[in-house]
Amino acid sequence: MPRSEPIKAVRGVRDILPTERPLWRVAETAAGEIARRFGYEEIVTPVIEHAELIERAGDDSDAFVKELYRFEDRGGRTLALRPEATAGVVRAYFEGGLYQEPQPSRLFLVGPMFRYDRPQKGRYRQFYQLDVEAIGSANAGLDAEVIELARDWLTELGLGNLRLELNSIGDSKCRPAYLEELKNYYRPLKEKLSADSQARLERNPLRLLDSKSDEDAPFKANAPRITDHLCDECSAHWEQVRRILDSAAIEYVLNPYLVRGLDYYTRTVFEFYPGGATGQQDALGGGGRYDGLAEAEGWPPTPAGGFASGLDRVTDLMSSSREEVIARPAADVLVLPDGDLAVEAAEVARICRAVRSVQVDYDPRSTKAKMRSANKLGAKWVVLLTAEGAQSRTAQLRDMTSREQAEVSWSDLADRLA
Ligand code: HAM
Repeated sequence: MPRSEPIKAVRGVRDILPTERPLWRVAETAAGEIARRFGYEEIVTPVIEHAELIERAGDDSDAFVKELYRFEDRGGRTLALRPEATAGVVRAYFEGGLYQEPQPSRLFLVGPMFRYDRPQKGRYRQFYQLDVEAIGSANAGLDAEVIELARDWLTELGLGNLRLELNSIGDSKCRPAYLEELKNYYRPLKEKLSADSQARLERNPLRLLDSKSDEDAPFKANAPRITDHLCDECSAHWEQVRRILDSAAIEYVLNPYLVRGLDYYTRTVFEFYPGGATGQQDALGGGGRYDGLAEAEGWPPTPAGGFASGLDRVTDLMSSSREEVIARPAADVLVLPDGDLAVEAAEVARICRAVRSVQVDYDPRSTKAKMRSANKLGAKWVVLLTAEGAQSRTAQLRDMTSREQAEVSWSDLADRLA
């Protein structure tokens, strides 16, 4: 009979296998604990949103428009799989009435994001983020707070060797004049720039600063710097953020070319890299202030800031230092029925499950073969069940570490395993 090809996973997505999942759980649990330590509460928003919500947040941002999973549902609505959480969290903040509670709202979310980008190591089309947002305050303390939260979380996961890059990109008051200056600087150089930068020059000149193209590299050093053109308010804010980071002994590198890929940022922007790495693709996280986003979505103007970090990248770096987490067995106890004792084995398992994680090996194989599986599984105890034992409601309890074995009545099993 002709067999069809097995259907494999969609390009750019991945399975998180049971051996990897414990590591992810460590990262997620630490995220929840540390977020709560800073007074952030968990929020869950849908994976699908109106495409327009995302597009308004992205404005003319290339990445958002080009990478959006955009589709029509059966009712003819144009929807998108969220490429990031911020736009949806801001929407939920208003729709859920969180703005009526004491401000700011401190929120965190862990979940999948989708970007139709070219897949490569550390870059997936479905990936996971820890997202942290503080909405409803313009205070510089919050910019520094989300950075400190991110730093504490990554440090807790053993990734304390970080490089934090920091910049301020001003606001709607001071940025337009700066952008004019930037365009004036680049216009005479237009012919020498990369094709991407030529296209962005009039539309989104800030992005010329974070171009990775060799053709653009020679012109960056002399480009005007936004931090030299901040208005008084942005300047004071910028100073305050750095003062708080200094007092928290958080080291940072000032990077005048850091502008971030999304258009909604104002004032503070930052990115975390693993110590030693460079380049956009290696970023473990990033974020900043986005005082104009709420208004872009059609809500009242509301200042906010936050960050997001890619769990795929974080867990990948963790895995080398966390082998003990990966080595955890699926079950502490393995029940091995000898022969056709499925009903009895299920009962014994139920008794043991009161105190331990338990699996039953129902396969009709020799006890010797089953013992080999028990070793492979890494079970701490094996409960051997024979037809004779089942009659007297007893079993052999074997301690796989000490290799001691004893007959135990079913009713004593839970006590012995506790
Ligand atoms: P982002 O820089 O686009 O920011 O993404 C944050 C992090 O998500 C990146 O630093 C990276 O670790 C991870 N990431 C992004 N794309 C991928 C991918 N294709 N595969 C794997 N990991 C990826 C944001 O998303 C903003 N919403 C952050 C923010 C929150 N700003 C304010 N609040």
